Amino acid sequence: MGIDKKFQDLFIKVSTRAALASYYFIGKKDKIAADKAAVDTMRTELNKIDMRGNIVIGEGELDEAPMLYIGENLGNKNGPELDIAVDPLEGTNFVANNLPGALSVIAVAEKSNLFNAPETYMDKISANVNEKNVVDLDFTLKKNIFNLADYKNKDPKDVTVCLLDRPRHKRIIDELNNIGVKLKLITDGDVSGALLVSDDKHKVDLFLGEGGGPEGVLTAAALDAFDCFFQGRFLFKTDIDKKRAKSMGINDFQKKYNLDEIVSGDSIFCATGITSGDLVSGIKIDGNIFFSETLITHKSSGLKKIIKKHEKI
Ligand code: FBP
Repeated sequence: MGIDKKFQDLFIKVSTRAALASYYFIGKKDKIAADKAAVDTMRTELNKIDMRGNIVIGEGELDEAPMLYIGENLGNKNGPELDIAVDPLEGTNFVANNLPGALSVIAVAEKSNLFNAPETYMDKISANVNEKNVVDLDFTLKKNIFNLADYKNKDPKDVTVCLLDRPRHKRIIDELNNIGVKLKLITDGDVSGALLVSDDKHKVDLFLGEGGGPEGVLTAAALDAFDCFFQGRFLFKTDIDKKRAKSMGINDFQKKYNLDEIVSGDSIFCATGITSGDLVSGIKIDGNIFFSETLITHKSSGLKKIIKKHEKI
């Protein structure tokens, strides 16, 4: 049946208002306050919508997060049943330190179509490829690069790979250097990083590496609309991680998830810029008007564009 088009504007409003709430904390060195402002606002806005929404990716479990916790029901109880994934402030460091790339992000799908991901790390790979066996989490790095170069008809040395600049990625970075690809190392924000493959204008061919699992699910929703490739494998490092995964119905800890196992059916994804970054510009204020940019995708309607808005604060 799909999600009605009227929800596009409603969810844009949710992410733009959350972005505005966080905007006031740019450069204030307070990640927690910036996050709380976005969370509170997102929750208020979500509760205004005619839907029976359920948080599947949120700020944690009820005992850790008073709001937007996994399992929380939102909306004013009329309308479709929707699964909701949120990252009200993606890039807390970016806002706290006035750096580019902070986003407010939401993804929704019809009930039971969005993966209920545990709060662990995930090994991820994304590329603008819609064929199997070009890139894969189980291929060697070299095979992924050479296959992708072939697919895109370019020299492996002209392939650009984006990944989080982390000590845990040293081996991968060294190997990529040996192959001779171009690197785009990001300090945070792998939702944006993984989405850069979706449009040639960003000049990123491949995203990979270990980042947040919940961020992986949000990313998958947008990449689905762009017809891109995404795979993720959760990394359960501790017994607590494994116990939590089991309670969510995950028994195979090594499983590699294809995009269609993470999100299926129709979905809407919105990412509004808080500080300007590669994907979208940040919030700007002029008097009592605020300007925003939101990347929205809506799978069933084929919508994938940046919406610029200006509204009263
Ligand atoms: P926060 O906004 O929650 O701080 O997350 C930022 C982020 O860079 C994510 O984009 C990424 O998935 C994750 O942190 C990586 O985690 P770590 O900093 O532990 O490597």
